[in-house]
Amino acid sequence: MAFGREKVHFLNTPTPLEYLPSLSKELGIELYIKRDDLTNLGFGGNKLRKLEYVAAAALKQGATRLLTVGAAQSNHGRLTAAVAAKLGLKCTLAYVDTYPGELSSSLLLARMMGADVFFRKVDPERPVIEQYEAFAAELTAMHEAAGEKVYYTPMGASDELGMLGYYDCAVELSEQAAYMGIEDARVVCTLSSLGTYMGLFCGLKNEHSPLRLTGISIVPFGEAKLQRLMEYFQQVKDAYGLTMNASPEDFDIADYSFGAYNVPAKEAREAMYLMAQKEAIIVDPCYTGKTLAGIIDMVKTKKIAPGEQVIMIHTGGLPGIYSDKHRPLLEQDLLDGIYIMD
Ligand SMILES: Cc1ncc(COP(=O)(O)O)c(C=O)c1O
Repeated sequence: MAFGREKVHFLNTPTPLEYLPSLSKELGIELYIKRDDLTNLGFGGNKLRKLEYVAAAALKQGATRLLTVGAAQSNHGRLTAAVAAKLGLKCTLAYVDTYPGELSSSLLLARMMGADVFFRKVDPERPVIEQYEAFAAELTAMHEAAGEKVYYTPMGASDELGMLGYYDCAVELSEQAAYMGIEDARVVCTLSSLGTYMGLFCGLKNEHSPLRLTGISIVPFGEAKLQRLMEYFQQVKDAYGLTMNASPEDFDIADYSFGAYNVPAKEAREAMYLMAQKEAIIVDPCYTGKTLAGIIDMVKTKKIAPGEQVIMIHTGGLPGIYSDKHRPLLEQDLLDGIYIMD
């Protein structure tokens, strides 16, 4: 619980904080990983921490159905389906996207867990956020006309409620890092809809942790996104009466989107193979593979100093490996080690 907001405890936290000896040696830094990919429902991932708070709010309001928005292979959609299943609620995923032509990855898992998934094509003439809101309102009205009570969560659960999951993670991580003697390490997290970064930022700063935070944006990070981050910070500050302040320079964020959200990148795949072959840990092509590619690049360009202690938050996203966007490229890279014998 943070700031008096309740959560439903369904997670196996604290998640492990592990040292990566082989990859550390390879990169010339001291690299640790926080295994939020190992959270226990629906294939795991960062959204589950946020959803512990969402679940409590939904149950308090007597909801019969959780509803959220996203794109076709949304990890947040999959994990909202997982939490709904766990709580015995129904689930609607409102995807403003084109059906990918196959039932795979997170979409497949969401259906296995019983979610109803609605698609509507993107209208290039309108802001996508407006389309999400409109689609969610339309589906909410449909379900409520049938006698249900819908609890709506915005994209990525990145609002003042969802960020509390990563506020708690900041506290958990600070304790673990202190125990392991790396209390002033650099924490690196993936950034997209901003909630994970915001929760960690506020948690570390408000709790006076010496851990430092770097966000790696896997969506193009320009002025508009920075503006949104500042607005979000103000929203959180107002909601919980925080006395801490932040200006744009306080946010340490590097753009490793490689051009666009979820666009395949050779650097991300190479990072995935390196992590898999050195540590037998799998990272994904959309989020954590790009984050690791960012860490590798920052080591090369000396933004991360030789020998520096770095904690990468593994936020999950693993079903993305099996999506139509990424699996064929991984296959192309790796088929040369398949030997068909007579
Ligand atoms: C696997 C994974 N990692 C990181 C993120 C980024 O988290 P946030 O949206 O809170 O910025 C997401 C968001 O979709 C995700 O699915």
